[in-house]
Amino acid sequence: MKRFLGILLSAMMLLSLMAGCAAPAPVAAAEPAPAAEPAAAAEPAPAAEPAASTERVVIKFAAQGDSTPATQAVVDAYNASQEAYTVEWVDMTNDSGAMREQILTSMQSGSSDYDVLSMDVVWAGEFAAAGYIEPIDQLMKADGLKVSQFNAGSMTAGNYNAKQYTLPFFPDLGLLYFRKDVVSAEDAAKLVSGDYTYADLTAMAETYKGQGDTTDGIVFQGKLGECLVCNLTEYTNGWTDVEGGLTAMKAMVDSGAAPADILNYAEGETANSFVKGASVFARNWPYQWGVIASEGTIKQDQVDVAPLPGGSTVGGWLLGINKNSVNKEGAWDFMKFVATAEGQKIMSVQGGYLPGFNETLKDADVIASNAMLSMPGFQNALATTISRPVSAQYSKAADAIMNAGHAYLSGGSELAAAVSEIEAALQN
Ligand code: GLC
Repeated sequence: MKRFLGILLSAMMLLSLMAGCAAPAPVAAAEPAPAAEPAAAAEPAPAAEPAASTERVVIKFAAQGDSTPATQAVVDAYNASQEAYTVEWVDMTNDSGAMREQILTSMQSGSSDYDVLSMDVVWAGEFAAAGYIEPIDQLMKADGLKVSQFNAGSMTAGNYNAKQYTLPFFPDLGLLYFRKDVVSAEDAAKLVSGDYTYADLTAMAETYKGQGDTTDGIVFQGKLGECLVCNLTEYTNGWTDVEGGLTAMKAMVDSGAAPADILNYAEGETANSFVKGASVFARNWPYQWGVIASEGTIKQDQVDVAPLPGGSTVGGWLLGINKNSVNKEGAWDFMKFVATAEGQKIMSVQGGYLPGFNETLKDADVIASNAMLSMPGFQNALATTISRPVSAQYSKAADAIMNAGHAYLSGGSELAAAVSEIEAALQN
């Protein structure tokens, strides 16, 4: 069924490009055919077809909302780099769980609506196992790409049954952002080293709240959703101390250092508070560094980052090709662009994202424009990463964990009940 037609687009900067026959109009047919192209005549050309050489195949890219300019910039750069495809970004929700449901519904119906998918590291494996995405080993091989060129953890997350299904869009890790123009040098050094506890952090958030024109001490993700699972992973020290972690997080929620509605805060509310200068501390992902640059009332030189006391949760997003896409060659071409040198540089320089293509970490422009990558607190966070629970039925376990955690944090259940529900979910 799959036919691949190589067309040489000599006027363009691309050296070679795999173009899809699934495109509606046969490229050669509508063109004034050069004498040496007899094959074109054999195809019954639809009479009213416009000049096909100028027609681009549309590639739909389903990706989460981005509060930095990076995703749009990488799409624009790809569209400007070649003439065969136009990528359209289908801007999805920012909530990982809700996005999973949305894409899952589309996949289960066998839809070809999306060509390239952005997937959270915690559900990409499930998509691969269900056969919703295309293995990419052969495509990588044909283009000389090796697994070792990419972020190792991200590649593992998209590997199922010894087959690779994804390339990294961007790896993530939890960070504590803090206002270095507010916090004392002594406290700053303690935070950057990672040698502090959640009790220390709660005390600092209470002390500094209100200073430097802030209204809140600390913001983080207490909202019912995947973001809460990430925060609980950190408070429980990678699920090694569920009771201690829940107790520490409840103390933080009740301290008065966090906003009263912190249990409704996801990443967006967190970033909004911190970049507007309303809070002294914020737990968020690397992209918040980019949001300070693009939307901040405060400036990057007022900010430092530190590891979280119990370790920094690993997250991130991966790119894969919808098994039912009718534009797989274009999907791969775009995905490869985003995940390798050019695309990853745009993501890091314009969005503050951590590059998933190892070579990009050494790029002089990336190092110069993304100061966070060289900060000691960032390096210490990278050295102390922890994972969410590993489970064959991850989303079921995550649902149970977030529900039990949120009920306890909001005063709707007792500690012992929350601990036993979470422990049970971790066993599955
Ligand atoms: C970030 C992480 C992702 C995580 C999500 C939770 O997007 O990259 O892995 O699941 O936050 O909100």
